[in-house]
Amino acid sequence: MTNVTVIGAQWGDEGKGKIIDWLSNRAEMVVRFQGGNNAGHTIVVGDKTYKLSLLPSGVVQGKRSIIGNGVVVDPWSLLDEIARVGAAGLTITPDILVLAENAVLVLPLHRELDGMREDAAAQKIGTTKRGIGPSYEDKVGRRALRAIDLMDPASLPAKIEKLLAHHNVLRRGFGHAEVDAAALLVSLKEIAPKITPFIGSSWRELDAAKRAGKRILFEGAQAVLLDIDHGTYPFVTSSNTVAGQAAAGAGVGPREIGTVLGIVKSYTTRVGEGPFPTELKDATGEKLGERGHEFGTVTGRKRRCGWFDAVLVRQTVITGGVDGICLTKLDVLDGFEELKVCTHYELDGKRVDYLPADANSQALVKPVYETLEGWTDSTRGARSWAQLPANAIKYVRRIEELIGAQVALLSTSPDRDDTIMVRDPFL
Ligand code: IMP
Repeated sequence: MTNVTVIGAQWGDEGKGKIIDWLSNRAEMVVRFQGGNNAGHTIVVGDKTYKLSLLPSGVVQGKRSIIGNGVVVDPWSLLDEIARVGAAGLTITPDILVLAENAVLVLPLHRELDGMREDAAAQKIGTTKRGIGPSYEDKVGRRALRAIDLMDPASLPAKIEKLLAHHNVLRRGFGHAEVDAAALLVSLKEIAPKITPFIGSSWRELDAAKRAGKRILFEGAQAVLLDIDHGTYPFVTSSNTVAGQAAAGAGVGPREIGTVLGIVKSYTTRVGEGPFPTELKDATGEKLGERGHEFGTVTGRKRRCGWFDAVLVRQTVITGGVDGICLTKLDVLDGFEELKVCTHYELDGKRVDYLPADANSQALVKPVYETLEGWTDSTRGARSWAQLPANAIKYVRRIEELIGAQVALLSTSPDRDDTIMVRDPFL
């Protein structure tokens, strides 16, 4: 038995929530290791739909769930989410949820700065405006407030002063009112007693779990093409989303992250700005969007849609450290007469079989497609290979060949049970 790390292998929204929920049934602990409430993981159980953002998906199954040190945490948003899932019947207590003491806090000033920058920028990133980038900047800039600071209110005034010395200069530059230190202190002191019961140590929790032989599931958010190093910079999020981050963002050694499962949608989508070589700005793209219900979980924005890009996934399998994939939303392709898969690009008349690192080339690469026959029968809800049409199997096999990784799981509807397991990632 091994641990499992789940990451997105495209631009996010691959359907990680469902798979993490499905896998967490067989894990004893679930850990988030990066990102923040920019993530949106939808989990459908019977007639109930849970939309999780900061809470690890393990809470749905009542599994001990850790928000690791690599996550940036908006404490107000966390409390709202706890209340929201509470209303839907999930009670989140400190027995279930642990927030790493060394996780950085996202404050209203981060959200505001994210918004000010996006509104003022000539070239927008299309962020979720949740303050994720600005809070990671403060973390690296060594002026951030962390969860543990809420346990020591007497230390807050000096830390707030240091933080505001930086932020108020920026705010003046944007023509915005400065942040009032006293008001921020009051609101932090007010929220502290509600958050502190959850605060603990991610690394010690994980060490104890390891010693007890427990199986751990590391839950990635966003995806490799949004990784701050390996993604389509600057149109990326502000954290590392590759599997390697699971170790640093939770406080375990790299060998503890176990099997890496990359979640891959059967076509491609992206929210926000940035290059997207196989994007379809036509009726086919609209059809994919409608059939796949491609609207962002967090912001409600319409997702851009396009054909499967094997060049990108071949690359993210390598940079992300993916051992096997879970292919999702195959049923969205039901009924297409033919399907295209991008096998390589052309740039300046030359063949290119990877995504170049510079944004200009990324915008200029032209996808070269291979056409595969579609299928008319439905794959929705299939629970075994035998239930899949022959052409659907051919499509899956061709994708495996092109990306250099095999399918471990196949998801055929949002429902938890509509999952075909080819290889058990925990074994
Ligand atoms: P940020 O993470 O809010 O800074 O946004 C940076 C980029 O990442 C934008 O293009 C967002 O649309 C994208 N992004 C952030 N979180 C997610 C996610 O969970 N799914 C898909 N895209 C995301």
